[in-house]
Amino acid sequence: MTNSAAPLDDRASAACVGVFDSGVGGLSVLRALHRHLPRSRLLYVADSGYAPYGERDERYVIERSRVLTAHLLREGAQLIVVACNTATAAAVRALREEHPGVQFVGVEPGIKPAIALSRNGRIGVMATRGTLASDKFRQLVSSHAQGAQLHLQACAGLAHAIEAGDADSAEVLALVDRYTAPLREADVDTVVLGCTHYPFVAQHIQKALGAEVRLVDTADAVARRAQQLATSLQAATDAVPRQTARLWTTGDLSTLQSVAGRWLGFEAETQVLLPA
Ligand code: DGL
Repeated sequence: MTNSAAPLDDRASAACVGVFDSGVGGLSVLRALHRHLPRSRLLYVADSGYAPYGERDERYVIERSRVLTAHLLREGAQLIVVACNTATAAAVRALREEHPGVQFVGVEPGIKPAIALSRNGRIGVMATRGTLASDKFRQLVSSHAQGAQLHLQACAGLAHAIEAGDADSAEVLALVDRYTAPLREADVDTVVLGCTHYPFVAQHIQKALGAEVRLVDTADAVARRAQQLATSLQAATDAVPRQTARLWTTGDLSTLQSVAGRWLGFEAETQVLLPA
C-alpha cells in the first residue's frame, strides 16, 4: 500500500501533538495520548520551573501558556493539548484567539461524567484554587450540574507536593488526608480529579475516601478528543514509524527523568528548556 492510500487513521496517528502542563501532572494525559495515538510524534513541556500554577493569577498562567505553546509550535506541533485544568481555565481562550489556525484541546474537571456515575447526587471536585475560581469552571457547573450537590475542594499544595516526584511522601499523604476529610464528611459517592497531577496519587485518594467512592479522571476522554482532531490533520510526515516522545522541563531535569521513568511506561528523550 502506498502512503497516499494509507487509511485515515494511519495518517492521523502520525500527526505531531504538543502537550504542556505546569509540571509533571500532564504526564497522566500524555500516557493516555500514547495509547490513543500509537504512531504520533508526542512533544511535552513540564513547566516545573514556574509551577505550581494553581495559586497564581490568570495573567501569569496565560503568559506561561503562551511561552510553552510557542515552543511546541516551533518544534512542529500541529495540535496542542493543554494538559492542565488550571491553564485551560485561564488561557485556552486566549491561545485559540492568538493561533486561529491551530487546534487546542483543553482539560476540564469531569463534572458531566461524574453526574452520570453518581447514585446519590453528591459529588466532590478536587482541583486547584485557580480552576475552581475561574469563569470557565463556573460556566461548566451552570451548564451541567443542575440538581447535583457539588462539594468543591481546593487542594492548595497538593500539586506542588506531587511535583517533587514522590507520590508516597508523608507530605502527599497528609494533604490527601486533609482534603478528602470534608468530602467523606459530605458523603459524596463520586469524586472528580480536577487537576492532572492527582491521578498519580489516585490510590491514596481512593484509600482515604473508601473503595465504594468512584474517582473520575478525564485523561482518556481528552486523548480520544485529540485523536478525533488528529484525523483531520495532514501528518507532517506520512505514516512514519512510532517516534520517541520528547519531553522538556523548565525545572530540574533529573526529577523529570525519574518521574517519567516511573509514571509513563514508555521511552522518552528528556531535556531542559531554557528561557528563549
Ligand atoms: N496540573 C495542573 C492542573 O491540572 C495544575 C497544578 C498546578 O500547577 O497548580 O490544574
